[in-house]
Amino acid sequence: MTSIRFPQGFVWGAATAAYQIEGAVAEDGRGPSIWDEFCRRPGAVERGDNGDIACDHYHRWSSDLDLLEELGVGAYRFSVAWSRVFPEGAGRVNPAGLDFYERLVDSLLERGITPMVTLYHWDLPQALQGTGGWVDRATAGRFADYASTVATRLGDRVESWITLNEPYCSAFVGYVEGRHAPGVVDEAAAVQVLHHLLLGHGLAARAIRETGVSGKVGLTLNLTSPHPASSSPEDMAAHQRLDLYENRMFLDPVLGRGYPADAEEFYRGITDFGFVHPGDLDVIATPMDFLGVNYYERHLVQADRANPRGWRRLPDPNPTISGIGVHPEGLGEVLDRVSEYTDLPLMITETGIALHDYVDPERRIHDQERIDFYDGHVRAAAEAIARGVNLVGFFPWSFMDNFEWAWGYGHRFGLYYVDYATQERIPKDSAFWYARLTRANGLD
Ligand code: FCB
Repeated sequence: MTSIRFPQGFVWGAATAAYQIEGAVAEDGRGPSIWDEFCRRPGAVERGDNGDIACDHYHRWSSDLDLLEELGVGAYRFSVAWSRVFPEGAGRVNPAGLDFYERLVDSLLERGITPMVTLYHWDLPQALQGTGGWVDRATAGRFADYASTVATRLGDRVESWITLNEPYCSAFVGYVEGRHAPGVVDEAAAVQVLHHLLLGHGLAARAIRETGVSGKVGLTLNLTSPHPASSSPEDMAAHQRLDLYENRMFLDPVLGRGYPADAEEFYRGITDFGFVHPGDLDVIATPMDFLGVNYYERHLVQADRANPRGWRRLPDPNPTISGIGVHPEGLGEVLDRVSEYTDLPLMITETGIALHDYVDPERRIHDQERIDFYDGHVRAAAEAIARGVNLVGFFPWSFMDNFEWAWGYGHRFGLYYVDYATQERIPKDSAFWYARLTRANGLD
Protein backbone atom coordinates (compact mmCIF):
# COMPACT_ATOMS: atom_id res chain seq x y z
CA MET A 1 0.00 0.00 0.00
CA THR A 2 1.42 3.34 -1.02
CA SER A 3 1.21 6.41 1.19
CA ILE A 4 -1.00 9.25 0.02
CA ARG A 5 -1.41 12.92 0.86
CA PHE A 6 -4.48 15.07 0.38
CA PRO A 7 -4.47 18.65 -0.92
CA GLN A 8 -3.73 21.30 1.67
CA GLY A 9 -6.95 22.53 3.24
CA PHE A 10 -8.78 19.24 2.69
CA VAL A 11 -11.35 18.94 5.49
CA TRP A 12 -11.34 15.86 7.72
CA GLY A 13 -14.44 15.82 9.86
CA ALA A 14 -16.81 13.63 11.81
CA ALA A 15 -20.60 13.47 11.66
CA THR A 16 -23.60 12.97 13.96
CA ALA A 17 -27.29 13.92 14.05
CA ALA A 18 -29.39 15.39 16.86
CA TYR A 19 -31.93 12.65 17.52
CA GLN A 20 -29.27 9.96 17.28
CA ILE A 21 -27.05 11.34 20.05
CA GLU A 22 -28.68 14.07 22.13
CA GLY A 23 -31.28 12.32 24.31
CA ALA A 24 -32.89 14.80 26.76
CA VAL A 25 -35.99 14.68 24.62
CA ALA A 26 -38.22 16.43 27.14
CA GLU A 27 -35.70 18.91 28.52
CA ASP A 28 -35.45 22.68 28.29
CA GLY A 29 -38.62 23.01 26.29
CA ARG A 30 -37.90 20.63 23.39
CA GLY A 31 -41.09 19.58 21.62
CA PRO A 32 -41.63 16.02 20.37
CA SER A 33 -40.58 15.02 16.87
CA ILE A 34 -41.89 12.34 14.53
CA TRP A 35 -39.11 10.04 15.72
CA ASP A 36 -40.21 10.27 19.36
CA GLU A 37 -43.65 9.23 18.17
CA PHE A 38 -42.46 6.53 15.75
CA CYS A 39 -40.24 4.86 18.37
CA ARG A 40 -43.30 4.28 20.52
CA ARG A 41 -45.02 2.29 17.82
CA PRO A 42 -44.68 -1.41 18.70
CA GLY A 43 -42.33 -3.17 16.31
CA ALA A 44 -41.14 0.02 14.60
CA VAL A 45 -37.61 -0.03 16.06
CA GLU A 46 -35.55 -3.12 16.91
CA ARG A 47 -35.87 -4.12 20.58
CA GLY A 48 -38.16 -1.15 21.09
CA ASP A 49 -35.13 1.16 21.35
CA ASN A 50 -35.67 4.92 21.26
CA GLY A 51 -33.72 8.17 21.42
CA ASP A 52 -34.90 9.27 24.89
CA ILE A 53 -31.37 9.07 26.30
CA ALA A 54 -29.26 8.07 23.29
CA CYS A 55 -25.65 9.16 23.96
CA ASP A 56 -26.81 11.78 26.46
CA HIS A 57 -24.87 14.25 24.36
CA TYR A 58 -27.18 17.07 25.43
CA HIS A 59 -25.45 16.89 28.84
CA ARG A 60 -22.07 15.55 27.78
CA TRP A 61 -21.48 17.80 24.78
CA SER A 62 -18.42 19.49 26.27
CA SER A 63 -16.49 16.31 27.01
CA ASP A 64 -17.62 14.98 23.62
CA LEU A 65 -16.01 17.97 21.95
CA ASP A 66 -12.79 17.06 23.80
CA LEU A 67 -12.93 13.75 21.96
CA LEU A 68 -13.33 15.53 18.65
CA GLU A 69 -10.12 17.38 19.47
CA GLU A 70 -8.41 14.04 20.10
CA LEU A 71 -9.50 12.96 16.64
CA GLY A 72 -7.83 16.04 15.21
CA VAL A 73 -10.77 16.91 12.98
CA GLY A 74 -11.04 20.27 11.26
CA ALA A 75 -14.84 20.24 11.12
CA TYR A 76 -17.80 18.70 12.91
CA ARG A 77 -21.09 17.99 11.18
CA PHE A 78 -24.03 17.91 13.62
CA SER A 79 -27.72 18.65 13.25
CA VAL A 80 -30.04 21.07 14.97
CA ALA A 81 -33.26 19.58 16.31
CA TRP A 82 -36.03 21.69 14.81
CA SER A 83 -38.30 20.95 17.79
CA ARG A 84 -35.74 22.31 20.25
CA VAL A 85 -35.92 25.65 18.44
CA PHE A 86 -39.64 25.60 17.59
CA PRO A 87 -41.32 23.11 19.95
CA GLU A 88 -44.50 23.31 17.86
CA GLY A 89 -42.61 23.49 14.56
CA ALA A 90 -43.54 27.13 13.96
CA GLY A 91 -44.60 30.22 15.86
CA ARG A 92 -43.06 30.36 19.33
CA VAL A 93 -39.24 30.16 19.51
CA ASN A 94 -37.72 28.29 22.46
CA PRO A 95 -34.64 30.34 23.45
CA ALA A 96 -33.11 27.44 25.42
CA GLY A 97 -32.94 25.41 22.22
CA LEU A 98 -30.96 28.06 20.38
CA ASP A 99 -28.76 28.56 23.46
CA PHE A 100 -27.73 24.91 23.39
CA TYR A 101 -26.55 25.07 19.79
CA GLU A 102 -24.86 28.40 20.39
CA ARG A 103 -22.80 26.87 23.21
CA LEU A 104 -21.88 24.01 20.91
CA VAL A 105 -20.86 26.30 18.05
CA ASP A 106 -18.84 28.64 20.27
CA SER A 107 -17.09 25.79 21.97
CA LEU A 108 -16.22 24.20 18.63
CA LEU A 109 -14.75 27.46 17.42
CA GLU A 110 -12.71 27.83 20.62
CA ARG A 111 -11.23 24.43 19.83
CA GLY A 112 -10.49 25.40 16.24
CA ILE A 113 -13.15 23.08 14.82
CA THR A 114 -15.41 24.38 12.07
CA PRO A 115 -19.12 23.83 12.71
CA MET A 116 -21.12 22.34 9.85
CA VAL A 117 -24.83 22.48 10.64
CA THR A 118 -27.48 20.19 9.18
CA LEU A 119 -30.88 21.78 9.66
CA TYR A 120 -33.04 18.75 8.95
CA HIS A 121 -31.83 15.29 9.82
CA TRP A 122 -35.29 13.67 9.69
CA ASP A 123 -36.73 14.93 12.99
CA LEU A 124 -39.81 16.88 11.93
CA PRO A 125 -41.65 18.44 14.88
CA GLN A 126 -44.60 16.19 15.65
CA ALA A 127 -46.90 19.23 15.71
CA LEU A 128 -46.22 19.75 12.00
CA GLN A 129 -46.87 16.08 11.27
CA GLY A 130 -50.26 16.74 12.81
CA THR A 131 -50.98 19.34 10.13
CA GLY A 132 -49.90 17.06 7.30
CA GLY A 133 -46.11 16.92 7.65
CA TRP A 134 -44.17 17.10 4.39
CA VAL A 135 -47.27 16.12 2.42
CA ASP A 136 -48.45 19.64 3.18
CA ARG A 137 -46.79 22.30 1.04
CA ALA A 138 -46.85 24.75 3.96
CA THR A 139 -44.21 22.67 5.77
CA ALA A 140 -41.62 23.81 3.20
CA GLY A 141 -42.29 27.42 4.21
CA ARG A 142 -42.12 26.55 7.91
CA PHE A 143 -38.77 24.92 7.28
CA ALA A 144 -37.47 28.11 5.66
CA ASP A 145 -38.66 30.13 8.68
CA TYR A 146 -36.85 27.78 11.03
CA ALA A 147 -33.70 27.91 8.87
CA SER A 148 -33.82 31.68 8.92
CA THR A 149 -34.19 31.75 12.73
CA VAL A 150 -31.18 29.50 13.26
CA ALA A 151 -29.10 31.38 10.68
CA THR A 152 -29.98 34.73 12.27
CA ARG A 153 -28.63 33.49 15.60
CA LEU A 154 -25.61 31.49 14.47
CA GLY A 155 -24.91 32.74 10.96
CA ASP A 156 -21.93 34.84 11.95
CA ARG A 157 -20.15 31.71 13.23
CA VAL A 158 -21.27 28.76 11.13
CA GLU A 159 -19.19 28.08 8.04
CA SER A 160 -21.41 25.55 6.28
CA TRP A 161 -25.14 24.91 6.27
CA ILE A 162 -26.74 21.71 5.04
CA THR A 163 -30.45 22.20 4.55
CA LEU A 164 -31.58 18.56 4.34
CA ASN A 165 -29.95 15.25 5.05
CA GLU A 166 -30.89 12.50 2.60
CA PRO A 167 -34.34 13.51 1.32
CA TYR A 168 -34.45 10.02 -0.25
CA CYS A 169 -34.81 8.53 3.23
CA SER A 170 -37.34 11.08 4.47
CA ALA A 171 -39.52 10.54 1.41
CA PHE A 172 -39.01 6.94 0.35
CA VAL A 173 -37.97 5.13 3.53
CA GLY A 174 -40.52 7.18 5.49
CA TYR A 175 -43.43 7.04 3.01
CA VAL A 176 -42.85 4.08 0.63
CA GLU A 177 -41.19 1.47 2.84
CA GLY A 178 -42.64 2.86 6.08
CA ARG A 179 -39.48 1.75 7.92
CA HIS A 180 -38.69 5.28 9.13
CA ALA A 181 -40.87 7.94 10.72
CA PRO A 182 -43.62 8.72 10.09
CA GLY A 183 -44.00 5.08 9.00
CA VAL A 184 -46.48 5.60 6.17
CA VAL A 185 -46.86 3.40 3.07
CA ASP A 186 -48.33 5.63 0.37
CA GLU A 187 -46.39 6.06 -2.82
CA ALA A 188 -48.35 9.04 -4.11
CA ALA A 189 -47.77 10.85 -0.83
CA ALA A 190 -44.06 9.95 -1.01
CA VAL A 191 -43.53 11.82 -4.28
CA GLN A 192 -45.36 14.83 -2.92
CA VAL A 193 -43.20 14.66 0.22
CA LEU A 194 -40.08 14.51 -1.94
CA HIS A 195 -41.18 17.58 -3.85
CA HIS A 196 -41.98 19.55 -0.72
CA LEU A 197 -38.66 18.58 0.87
CA LEU A 198 -36.77 19.83 -2.19
CA LEU A 199 -38.89 22.97 -2.23
CA GLY A 200 -38.09 23.42 1.46
CA HIS A 201 -34.40 23.03 0.63
CA GLY A 202 -34.56 25.81 -1.97
CA LEU A 203 -36.63 28.13 0.22
CA ALA A 204 -34.34 27.51 3.19
CA ALA A 205 -31.21 28.14 1.11
CA ARG A 206 -32.66 31.48 0.06
CA ALA A 207 -33.82 32.31 3.60
CA ILE A 208 -30.38 31.56 5.06
CA ARG A 209 -28.69 33.82 2.51
CA GLU A 210 -31.24 36.56 3.12
CA THR A 211 -30.08 36.77 6.72
CA GLY A 212 -26.75 37.97 5.32
CA VAL A 213 -24.63 35.05 6.48
CA SER A 214 -21.20 34.52 5.00
CA GLY A 215 -21.31 30.74 5.30
CA LYS A 216 -21.77 28.27 2.48
CA VAL A 217 -25.12 26.63 1.80
CA GLY A 218 -25.58 23.10 0.49
CA LEU A 219 -27.57 19.90 0.64
CA THR A 220 -26.68 16.30 1.45
CA LEU A 221 -27.92 13.53 -0.83
CA ASN A 222 -27.36 9.83 -0.30
CA LEU A 223 -26.32 8.56 -3.69
CA THR A 224 -25.81 4.99 -4.83
CA SER A 225 -23.86 3.34 -7.59
CA PRO A 226 -26.22 0.87 -9.27
CA HIS A 227 -24.97 -1.44 -12.02
CA PRO A 228 -27.03 -3.62 -14.36
CA ALA A 229 -26.51 -7.32 -13.60
CA SER A 230 -26.17 -8.01 -17.34
CA SER A 231 -26.35 -6.14 -20.63
CA SER A 232 -29.75 -7.62 -21.46
CA PRO A 233 -32.29 -4.90 -22.40
CA GLU A 234 -34.44 -5.97 -19.43
CA ASP A 235 -31.63 -5.55 -16.89
CA MET A 236 -30.55 -2.30 -18.50
CA ALA A 237 -34.11 -0.96 -18.22
CA ALA A 238 -34.36 -2.09 -14.59
CA HIS A 239 -31.08 -0.31 -13.89
CA GLN A 240 -32.39 2.90 -15.45
CA ARG A 241 -35.48 2.77 -13.28
CA LEU A 242 -33.60 2.11 -10.07
CA ASP A 243 -31.14 4.88 -10.89
CA LEU A 244 -34.08 7.24 -11.42
CA TYR A 245 -35.52 6.31 -8.04
CA GLU A 246 -32.30 6.42 -6.03
CA ASN A 247 -30.33 9.18 -7.71
CA ARG A 248 -31.79 11.17 -10.58
CA MET A 249 -35.04 12.14 -8.80
CA PHE A 250 -32.81 14.17 -6.47
CA LEU A 251 -29.74 15.19 -8.46
CA ASP A 252 -31.63 16.41 -11.51
CA PRO A 253 -34.00 18.91 -9.88
CA VAL A 254 -31.50 20.36 -7.40
CA LEU A 255 -28.86 20.79 -10.08
CA GLY A 256 -31.22 22.60 -12.44
CA ARG A 257 -32.43 19.86 -14.78
CA GLY A 258 -35.95 19.53 -13.40
CA TYR A 259 -37.46 16.12 -12.75
CA PRO A 260 -36.12 13.49 -15.17
CA ALA A 261 -38.18 12.84 -18.30
CA ASP A 262 -38.75 9.18 -17.36
CA ALA A 263 -40.26 10.14 -13.97
CA GLU A 264 -43.66 10.72 -15.55
CA GLU A 265 -43.77 7.20 -16.97
CA PHE A 266 -42.37 5.71 -13.75
CA TYR A 267 -45.10 7.32 -11.67
CA ARG A 268 -47.95 6.89 -14.19
CA GLY A 269 -51.10 5.86 -12.37
CA ILE A 270 -49.56 6.90 -9.05
CA THR A 271 -49.22 10.66 -9.37
CA ASP A 272 -49.42 13.28 -12.11
CA PHE A 273 -47.08 15.73 -10.33
CA GLY A 274 -49.98 18.18 -10.01
CA PHE A 275 -48.38 19.44 -6.79
CA VAL A 276 -45.54 21.10 -8.75
CA HIS A 277 -46.44 24.79 -8.98
CA PRO A 278 -45.02 27.22 -11.53
CA GLY A 279 -41.65 28.47 -10.29
CA ASP A 280 -41.04 25.56 -7.90
CA LEU A 281 -38.27 24.08 -10.00
CA ASP A 282 -36.40 27.41 -9.98
CA VAL A 283 -36.59 27.51 -6.19
CA ILE A 284 -35.41 23.90 -5.97
CA ALA A 285 -32.50 24.72 -8.28
CA THR A 286 -31.35 27.67 -6.13
CA PRO A 287 -27.57 27.67 -6.64
CA MET A 288 -25.63 25.98 -3.87
CA ASP A 289 -22.07 26.47 -2.65
CA PHE A 290 -21.30 22.77 -2.23
CA LEU A 291 -22.97 19.40 -2.43
CA GLY A 292 -22.77 16.82 0.35
CA VAL A 293 -22.65 13.19 -0.72
CA ASN A 294 -23.43 10.30 1.62
CA TYR A 295 -22.21 7.05 0.17
CA TYR A 296 -23.10 3.60 1.48
CA GLU A 297 -24.41 1.48 -1.38
CA ARG A 298 -23.36 -0.01 -4.70
CA HIS A 299 -25.60 -2.68 -6.13
CA LEU A 300 -26.23 -5.01 -9.02
CA VAL A 301 -29.71 -4.64 -10.45
CA GLN A 302 -31.72 -7.28 -12.26
CA ALA A 303 -35.06 -7.07 -14.03
CA ASP A 304 -37.85 -8.56 -11.92
CA ARG A 305 -41.34 -8.91 -13.38
CA ALA A 306 -42.77 -9.86 -10.00
CA ASN A 307 -41.94 -6.40 -8.67
CA PRO A 308 -44.21 -3.62 -9.97
CA ARG A 309 -41.15 -1.37 -10.12
CA GLY A 310 -39.47 -3.88 -12.41
CA TRP A 311 -36.22 -4.33 -10.51
CA ARG A 312 -34.46 -6.49 -7.97
CA ARG A 313 -31.29 -5.47 -6.14
CA LEU A 314 -29.16 -8.63 -6.00
CA PRO A 315 -28.14 -9.52 -2.44
CA ASP A 316 -24.51 -8.66 -1.78
CA PRO A 317 -22.32 -11.78 -1.45
CA ASN A 318 -20.50 -10.25 1.55
CA PRO A 319 -22.99 -8.11 3.42
CA THR A 320 -22.19 -6.29 6.65
CA ILE A 321 -24.70 -6.49 9.50
CA SER A 322 -26.64 -3.70 7.80
CA GLY A 323 -27.09 -5.88 4.72
CA ILE A 324 -24.85 -3.61 2.64
CA GLY A 325 -21.65 -4.69 0.87
CA VAL A 326 -18.29 -2.91 1.14
CA HIS A 327 -17.45 -1.32 -2.22
CA PRO A 328 -15.04 1.60 -2.04
CA GLU A 329 -14.91 1.75 -5.83
CA GLY A 330 -18.61 2.73 -5.74
CA LEU A 331 -17.62 5.93 -3.95
CA GLY A 332 -15.38 6.84 -6.88
CA GLU A 333 -18.19 6.01 -9.30
CA VAL A 334 -20.64 8.24 -7.42
CA LEU A 335 -18.16 11.13 -7.28
CA ASP A 336 -17.38 10.84 -11.00
CA ARG A 337 -21.06 10.77 -11.76
CA VAL A 338 -21.85 13.87 -9.74
CA SER A 339 -18.90 15.64 -11.35
CA GLU A 340 -20.59 15.17 -14.72
CA TYR A 341 -23.51 17.20 -13.39
CA THR A 342 -21.68 19.99 -11.63
CA ASP A 343 -18.32 21.44 -10.74
CA LEU A 344 -19.52 22.45 -7.26
CA PRO A 345 -17.16 21.46 -4.44
CA LEU A 346 -18.19 18.04 -3.12
CA MET A 347 -17.98 16.80 0.45
CA ILE A 348 -18.39 13.22 1.53
CA THR A 349 -20.67 14.11 4.43
CA GLU A 350 -21.07 10.45 5.49
CA THR A 351 -19.68 7.03 4.85
CA GLY A 352 -19.18 4.26 7.36
CA ILE A 353 -19.73 0.69 8.46
CA ALA A 354 -21.65 -0.98 11.29
CA LEU A 355 -19.91 -3.83 13.11
CA HIS A 356 -20.59 -5.94 16.19
CA ASP A 357 -17.93 -4.07 18.15
CA TYR A 358 -17.14 -5.26 21.64
CA VAL A 359 -14.79 -4.17 24.41
CA ASP A 360 -12.10 -6.76 25.16
CA PRO A 361 -10.63 -7.45 28.63
CA GLU A 362 -7.93 -4.82 28.00
CA ARG A 363 -10.68 -2.24 27.28
CA ARG A 364 -9.76 -2.15 23.60
CA ILE A 365 -12.02 -2.36 20.58
CA HIS A 366 -10.17 -3.98 17.69
CA ASP A 367 -12.27 -2.89 14.73
CA GLN A 368 -9.80 -3.72 11.98
CA GLU A 369 -12.68 -4.20 9.53
CA ARG A 370 -13.66 -0.55 10.02
CA ILE A 371 -10.07 0.58 9.49
CA ASP A 372 -9.97 -1.44 6.27
CA PHE A 373 -13.29 0.09 5.24
CA TYR A 374 -12.04 3.64 5.75
CA ASP A 375 -8.66 2.91 4.22
CA GLY A 376 -10.42 1.76 1.05
CA HIS A 377 -12.80 4.72 0.95
CA VAL A 378 -10.09 7.27 1.69
CA ARG A 379 -8.00 5.81 -1.14
CA ALA A 380 -11.01 5.94 -3.45
CA ALA A 381 -11.45 9.61 -2.48
CA ALA A 382 -7.78 10.35 -3.22
CA GLU A 383 -8.07 8.64 -6.61
CA ALA A 384 -11.15 10.71 -7.42
CA ILE A 385 -9.24 13.90 -6.61
CA ALA A 386 -6.40 12.72 -8.85
CA ARG A 387 -8.95 12.28 -11.67
CA GLY A 388 -9.99 15.90 -11.20
CA VAL A 389 -13.04 15.54 -8.93
CA ASN A 390 -13.52 18.68 -6.83
CA LEU A 391 -13.68 16.83 -3.52
CA VAL A 392 -12.96 19.01 -0.49
CA GLY A 393 -13.91 17.03 2.61
CA PHE A 394 -14.52 13.63 4.20
CA PHE A 395 -16.76 12.98 7.24
CA PRO A 396 -16.92 9.46 8.67
CA TRP A 397 -20.25 8.25 9.96
CA SER A 398 -20.04 8.40 12.82
CA PHE A 399 -18.13 10.23 15.51
CA MET A 400 -19.62 7.83 18.08
CA ASP A 401 -22.02 4.89 18.25
CA ASN A 402 -25.59 6.13 18.40
CA PHE A 403 -29.29 5.47 17.89
CA GLU A 404 -29.36 4.07 14.38
CA TRP A 405 -33.00 4.73 13.54
CA ALA A 406 -35.02 1.55 12.94
CA TRP A 407 -31.96 -0.55 13.83
CA GLY A 408 -31.83 1.02 17.29
CA TYR A 409 -28.56 0.69 19.21
CA GLY A 410 -27.55 -2.64 17.66
CA HIS A 411 -25.67 -1.13 14.73
CA ARG A 412 -22.48 0.51 15.92
CA PHE A 413 -20.99 2.89 13.34
CA GLY A 414 -18.83 5.01 15.66
CA LEU A 415 -15.15 5.77 15.85
CA TYR A 416 -15.86 5.95 19.58
CA TYR A 417 -17.62 3.08 21.30
CA VAL A 418 -20.47 4.12 23.59
CA ASP A 419 -21.22 1.94 26.61
CA TYR A 420 -24.90 2.82 26.93
CA ALA A 421 -25.13 1.56 30.52
CA THR A 422 -22.50 4.01 31.78
CA GLN A 423 -22.29 6.47 28.85
CA GLU A 424 -18.55 5.91 28.80
CA ARG A 425 -16.92 6.64 25.43
CA ILE A 426 -14.00 4.43 24.45
CA PRO A 427 -11.88 5.09 21.35
CA LYS A 428 -11.92 2.15 18.96
CA ASP A 429 -8.76 1.26 17.06
CA SER A 430 -10.33 3.10 14.13
CA ALA A 431 -10.38 6.32 16.20
CA PHE A 432 -6.61 6.06 16.75
CA TRP A 433 -6.15 5.29 13.07
CA TYR A 434 -8.32 8.26 12.02
CA ALA A 435 -6.49 10.61 14.42
CA ARG A 436 -3.23 9.71 12.66
CA LEU A 437 -4.85 10.29 9.28
CA THR A 438 -6.25 13.73 10.14
CA ARG A 439 -2.84 14.87 11.44
CA ALA A 440 -0.88 13.48 8.50
CA ASN A 441 -3.52 14.69 6.01
CA GLY A 442 -3.22 11.29 4.41
CA LEU A 443 -2.22 7.68 4.81
CA ASP A 444 1.20 6.23 5.40
C1 FCB B 1 -27.58 7.53 6.91
C2 FCB B 1 -28.08 8.57 7.89
C3 FCB B 1 -27.32 8.60 9.20
C4 FCB B 1 -26.95 7.21 9.66
C5 FCB B 1 -26.32 6.39 8.57
C6 FCB B 1 -25.92 5.00 8.98
O1 FCB B 1 -28.59 7.19 6.03
O2 FCB B 1 -28.01 9.84 7.32
O3 FCB B 1 -28.09 9.30 10.12
O4 FCB B 1 -28.04 6.59 10.23
O5 FCB B 1 -27.20 6.31 7.48
